[in-house]
Amino acid sequence: MEPADAIYTRRSVRSYVSEPLGSEDLDKIERWIRGAERLTDDPFEYDYLGPEQIKTVLKWRAPHYIAIYSGRDMMSAVNVGFVFQQVDLRMQADGIGSCWLGMAKPESPLQHGGMEWGVSMSFGKPAEYPEVDKGADRKPLSRISDTEDPRLEPARLAPSAVNSQTWYFKKNGDAYDLYYKPKILKIPGITYWNYNDLGICLAHLYMAYPDTFSFSRGVSEDKKYVGTVRFRSRKDPVPSAGTGPIIF
Ligand SMILES: Cc1cc2nc3c(=O)[nH]c(=O)nc-3n(C[C@H](O)[C@H](O)[C@H](O)COP(=O)(O)O)c2cc1C
Repeated sequence: MEPADAIYTRRSVRSYVSEPLGSEDLDKIERWIRGAERLTDDPFEYDYLGPEQIKTVLKWRAPHYIAIYSGRDMMSAVNVGFVFQQVDLRMQADGIGSCWLGMAKPESPLQHGGMEWGVSMSFGKPAEYPEVDKGADRKPLSRISDTEDPRLEPARLAPSAVNSQTWYFKKNGDAYDLYYKPKILKIPGITYWNYNDLGICLAHLYMAYPDTFSFSRGVSEDKKYVGTVRFRSRKDPVPSAGTGPIIF
C-alpha cells in the first residue's frame, strides 16, 4: 500500500504483540522521521522508549514508543503533528500499527534544550487491527469548511486527540485559510494536542497532493489562524524541492 492510501484505511492501533520490531523496521522508521517534510523550521526532538519507560494510565502497552519534545507554541506543535503524521501513514501502509498518545509520558523526561515533552506515539506489530469504517466517525465536510470541496476529504479523515477535529477551512480566493476551532474539553494538555491535530490534518493534504500542496503563514490578527493552504496548478512554478520547511 502507498502511504497516501493509508489516509483512507488507517486506524489507531491499541493492541500490539509484545515482541519488539527488528532493527530493519526501526532503521526504516528513523529514516522516515528524518526524511519527512517539515512544515516550519521550529525544532523538535524525539526519543525511542520501551514500555517500561512510559508513565500512563492506559491499560495496554506497545513494544515501542516515540516521545516527542518541542516548544509549546502553536506552530511548533503543528510542525510536530505534520512530521509525525507522515510517519504514521508510512508505518500503517507498511503493516506497522501506531497510535498518537497524549496520555503516555516518559517516566523520566529528558532535557532537550528548552523543549518540553509534548506527545508520544506507540508503535509495533498489531495484534488486532481495528475495523476500518472509512471516516464514518468524522465530521462531514460541511462542518470542517465553508466550502464542500472534495479535495479537503483527506483532511476530514485525519486523526485527532479524542477525535475532536478542531480544524476549519475558509475559502479565500483560490486558497483555504485554516483556523483552529477549539472544542471546550477539560483535559489538561489538550491545546498542545489540538495544535498537533492541525499539523496532522495538513499532513494528510500534503501526502494526498504532494506535487501541488503548499502552505504559507499570512498575516492575521486572529490568533486562531494557522495558515493558508493552496493547491497549486501543475503549471505553476515548483518551489525549490528538498527537505526544508514547505512554507512559501
Ligand atoms: C495528538 C493526539 C493525541 C492522542 N492521544 C490519545 C491518547 O492519549 N489515548 C488514546 O487512546 N488515543 C489517543 N489518540 C488517538 C485518537 O483518539 C484517535 O486518533 C481518534 O479517536 C481517531 O481514531 P483513529 O485514529 O482510529 O482514526 C490521540 C490522537 C492524537 C492525534
